[in-house]
Amino acid sequence: MIIAIDGPAASGKGTLGSRLAQHYGLRHLDTGLLYRAVAKAVLDAGKPPQDKATAVVAARALDHAHLDRHVLQADAIGTAASIVSAFPEVRAVLVEYQRSFAAKPPGAVLDGRDIGTVIAPNADVKIFLVASAEERARRRTKDVEKRGERADFERILADIRTRDDRDTNRPISPLKPAPDAHLLDTTQLDIDAVIRAAIDIVEATRTGRGRG
Ligand code: DC
Repeated sequence: MIIAIDGPAASGKGTLGSRLAQHYGLRHLDTGLLYRAVAKAVLDAGKPPQDKATAVVAARALDHAHLDRHVLQADAIGTAASIVSAFPEVRAVLVEYQRSFAAKPPGAVLDGRDIGTVIAPNADVKIFLVASAEERARRRTKDVEKRGERADFERILADIRTRDDRDTNRPISPLKPAPDAHLLDTTQLDIDAVIRAAIDIVEATRTGRGRG
């Protein structure tokens, strides 16, 4: 079984992806980490994320086995990832890895922006998460504070809006729901309620009651 989860920045895709994978005994790939790792390599090389040539070299050299979520979660890396991910040449390099990850038995849960539309258009279940920008900024602010760092809600909200705009309006693989995706609005839900709702969607789809 392949489960595709897409949605905007800070919509809870990663947490939902890992919990669904655990529940169904599937492998999990947070595809945002791939773009984040490319962005970090560009920044580490002392180049701006707009430097396409360096980004393509970094994508080709990416060590998929060693993606350090802890290091890659920094907001500055997320913003740079949103910039490098708009280069078609970078996406082309990363697409193959994601598709072969999804294809290996017993299947996988992948989360990102273009899983249901480009990476796994034949996924068994597609879920598209939505939540208001304000709620996502509140969650991100809490995460940062939990790590013991200072968080500026207004700056985080502005950053989320900029990333939404860039990820949604780029010409290649923009963030958008696949026609057969199930929309799940998490604005009013805590993480346990989101997971229950997602499992209901998967079960309904498997038993033929869903649209997917
Ligand atoms: O989900 P995230 O915040 O970790 O993603 C970081 C950036 O990577 C996001 O702003 C856009 C890009 N991305 C993408 O273009 N396609 C994906 N499948 C996953 C992430």
